[in-house]
Amino acid sequence: MSAISINTPEEYQKAYKKSIEQPEQFWEEIASELLWQKRWDKVLEWNFAEPSVKWFIGGRMNITENCLDRHLSQRGNQTAIIWEPNDPRDKARKITYSELYSQVCHFSNVLLRNGVRKGDRVCIYMPMIPELTIAVLACARIGAIHSVVFAGFSAQSVADRINDSQCSLVITADGLRRGARQSGVKTVVDEALKQCQSVHRVIVFNHLGWEPNMVSGRDVWWHTEMQQVDGDCKAEAMDAEDMLFILYTSGSTGKPKGVVHTCGGYTVYMEYTFRNVFQLREKDVFWCTADVGWVTGHSYLVYGPLLAGTTTVMFEGIPTWPDAGRFWQVIDKHQVNIFYTAPTAIRSLMAAGVDHVLSASLSSLRVLGSVGEPINEEAWHWYNLHVGKERCPIVDTWWQTETGGIMISSLAGVTASKPSHAGNPLPGIQPVLLNNQGEVIEENGVEGYLAIRFPWPSMIRTTYGDHERCRVNYFDTYKGYYFTGDGAKRDEHGLYRIIGRVDDVINVSGHRFGTAEIENAINQSKHVVESAVVGYPHDIKGQGIYAFVICEVTPDNPELLREEIYESVSREIGRIAKPDKIQFVSGLPKTRSGKIMRRILRKVAEGELSNLGDTSTLLDPLVVDQIVAERIL
Ligand code: WTA
Repeated sequence: MSAISINTPEEYQKAYKKSIEQPEQFWEEIASELLWQKRWDKVLEWNFAEPSVKWFIGGRMNITENCLDRHLSQRGNQTAIIWEPNDPRDKARKITYSELYSQVCHFSNVLLRNGVRKGDRVCIYMPMIPELTIAVLACARIGAIHSVVFAGFSAQSVADRINDSQCSLVITADGLRRGARQSGVKTVVDEALKQCQSVHRVIVFNHLGWEPNMVSGRDVWWHTEMQQVDGDCKAEAMDAEDMLFILYTSGSTGKPKGVVHTCGGYTVYMEYTFRNVFQLREKDVFWCTADVGWVTGHSYLVYGPLLAGTTTVMFEGIPTWPDAGRFWQVIDKHQVNIFYTAPTAIRSLMAAGVDHVLSASLSSLRVLGSVGEPINEEAWHWYNLHVGKERCPIVDTWWQTETGGIMISSLAGVTASKPSHAGNPLPGIQPVLLNNQGEVIEENGVEGYLAIRFPWPSMIRTTYGDHERCRVNYFDTYKGYYFTGDGAKRDEHGLYRIIGRVDDVINVSGHRFGTAEIENAINQSKHVVESAVVGYPHDIKGQGIYAFVICEVTPDNPELLREEIYESVSREIGRIAKPDKIQFVSGLPKTRSGKIMRRILRKVAEGELSNLGDTSTLLDPLVVDQIVAERIL
C-alpha cells in the first residue's frame, strides 16, 4: 500500500504538503490502490455555498468488494471478526474472511428476495452481534442504503428515523444482552412500526432463542430465509457519489438529522485514515469498543478494519460486567494489538480501582486510541500508565458523524502527541480557527471556532431529504467553511486541542444529544409546562444533563414527577438521554423577548455562582435567585 502508508514524521510532512498543494493528485493516488469497477473521470468538484461536493466523479465501485472480495485470495482463512459475547462463559465466535464473504452474499440474496433494490433504505436495529455487520455489508453490496439505529434508542426514535428516510425493510433480532440485563429488541420494532407505513418486511435474527411475536405476512426469520438462497451475489456497481448510508445524529435544533455518506470518498478515506492513524501492521488484532449504532462503529469497527484486511473485535457486553476488568481480560484473551475506546469508559474503569487493570498482562497492546469527547489529562495519564504501560502511543482522534472519519489526530508513534490534544490534522484536512467575526486566526497559541476550509473525501454530502438543513447547519454560519460546532485551541506548535461544543449539543458519554431534543421529550410528560436543559461537567460521562422544569403546580411528590419525566425521556429518546439532575422551578430566566438565557442556567448547573453576568435585562430577575437557592448539587 505504497501511496497510503506514512511511517515517519518526514513522510507526514511530505504527504500533508502535497495534500494541500495538489489535493486532487494526492487523493487520486490513494484511491488508485482500491478496487474500482470503472475509474473516475474527474477527482473533485465542489462548492460550500450549496453545498455540493463530489469526489471521484464517474467512478464505479462497491465498498464490499474492497472489504471482502479483494482479500479472499490472500486472507480467505484469516479471521475477519472475533466476536466476544456478553457472558465470558459463552464461546467467542471467529469468522474468517471467506466465511464473512459467504454470509454477506447469502444475506444480500435474502434482501433481494425480500424485495430490496438499489437505493432503498433499510433500517438495522440490532444488538452487537456479527449479524449486524453482515446486514450492513449486505445492504452495501446490493446498493441499499443502510440506516443503523443504536439498539438503545426507543421505539419512538426508531419510528422517527424510519419515517424520515422511508425505510422499506427492518433487520432486527429477538433480544439483546448487556451485562446482567436482557431486553427485547423485536418488541421495540413492533412498537415503532405501529407508526410506520413504509415498512413491508422485518427480518428477525434469532439471537437469544426467544419466541417473539411474528406478524404474518410481514416478519420472517433470518435463518429460514438464509436457507432459501445461494451464496453468489455480484456486487452492485455503485456510482462513487451514490449514497452508502444514512446515520442520524443530533444537532442543536429539532429532531436528529440523517447524515448522508457516499460510496467512493468514504471508502478511500476509511482505509487511509485507519491504516495511518493506528499504524496498522499485518496480522494486527484491532478492537474498537464503540457500538455499530454510532459512527465510530461504522467507520472503525466495520468498514476501516475490513477494508484494511485486519481482524476486528466486536464485543457484545459492557466494560463493567461481570466486573470492571472485562476490557482487560478480553484484550489478553484475544491478544489485541490496537485498542480504541472512549474517555468515558476509561474514567468509569479508573473509578473502579486499579486492581482490575493490574491483574491483566496487556502485553499484546501496541497502540491505544481515544474518541468521542475530550480526554482529560488525568484519564490520559491513567490510560498511558496502566493500560499502555508507557510504551503504547495514544492517538486522541477528533472527528464527527459528519466527517465520516478521523480528521485531527497524531499518527501513532509517528507525529507529535500531547496529553489532551488531538494533534495535527491528517493529510488532506485543512482546519482553521475563526474568531467571533468569522475571520481566520492565523497565529498559534490561540482559541477559536473550529472550521474546515477544503473538502475531504468522506465529508457529509447532505442531510437526508432536506438539503437546506445541511446548508444551514454546517455551511451558513461561516461562509465558505464547513463549521464543526466545536471550539478548539491551537498551541504554540500548531497542535489542536478540542474544547467541546459551542452549540446547544450536549456530549454525554461520547453520545450527542440536542438540548432541544431532550426538552421536547421532557415536555411530553403530562404535568410539565416548560423545560430548559443544559450540560454540566460530569466526572464519568464528560457532560451530564441538567434539566430545569416548570410544572403546572408545585409538585407534592417531586420524586414521582421525576420518575414520570424519566419515563417520558426513555419513551421519546431512550434511557441513554435520562437527565442526571432535575430541578423544579417556578420560572426560567428569560429575556423580554422570551428567549431563555441558557448562559445563566449553564453557570448554575456548573456551580459557578459568583459570576452569573448581567441579569437586569431579564423579564423577572428574581427567578434567578430562586433557581440558585434551590439548585441541585
Ligand atoms: C466530540 C464521534 C474532543 C466533538 C466520532 C465532536 C471530540 C463530537 C473528540 C462528534 C476528541 C469527538 N476530542 N472532542 N478526540 N472526538 N469529539 O458525531 O465535540 O458522535 O463535535 O462523532 O464529539 O460526535 P459524533
